[in-house]
Amino acid sequence: MNRLPVVVLISGTGSNLAALLDASRTAECPYQVVAVVADRDAPGLEHARAAEIPTRIVRLSDYPDRASWDEALTAAVRTHAPHLVVLAGFMKLVGPPLLDAFGGRIINTHPALLPSFPGAHGVRDALAHGVKITGCSVIEVDAGVDTGRILAQSAVEVLDDDTEDSLHERIKAVEQPLLVDVVRRLTAAG
Ligand code: GRF
Repeated sequence: MNRLPVVVLISGTGSNLAALLDASRTAECPYQVVAVVADRDAPGLEHARAAEIPTRIVRLSDYPDRASWDEALTAAVRTHAPHLVVLAGFMKLVGPPLLDAFGGRIINTHPALLPSFPGAHGVRDALAHGVKITGCSVIEVDAGVDTGRILAQSAVEVLDDDTEDSLHERIKAVEQPLLVDVVRRLTAAG
């Protein structure tokens, strides 16, 4: 079976990456994670190293400005000729070079029900607002902040005694299968 190449971008613990890797071990999986790129020494890179998948760190502080970092990030991704680029807890906005190279083929997962609570603190903001239902969204990435087309969503109930961490953990539990499902769908379609 010819599996389509996927590059995953992370900044954090990589639980979504781990779910993508687990699912890719099944015989009928239509995609293969061919590289993982991070913007920092993210703990989640260990999942890729354990699976002997190439990793790369492209740090903003190693470049003179944002534009050259954007170019370097794009080059690091392009090397692996992915069919799909997955932002899985990647905590930076991607710039025009990556969008130009892979526009329509970059997806992101966000821990809130967009268009509510975009940005870096979706879980905290939902909790502070007092919503009773929140969740996660997988979207197509465009030039805005979490403004792209919504591909899939899952809802999660907010409990009275939730903290940001407890709520985020329950969101991650539904976010992982949702992301895997979307990646499978987008790679099965070719
Ligand atoms: C996810 O909930 C993602 O939506 C958010 O940060 C979390 C990253 O988790 N942006 P992980 O690094 O995949 O464990």
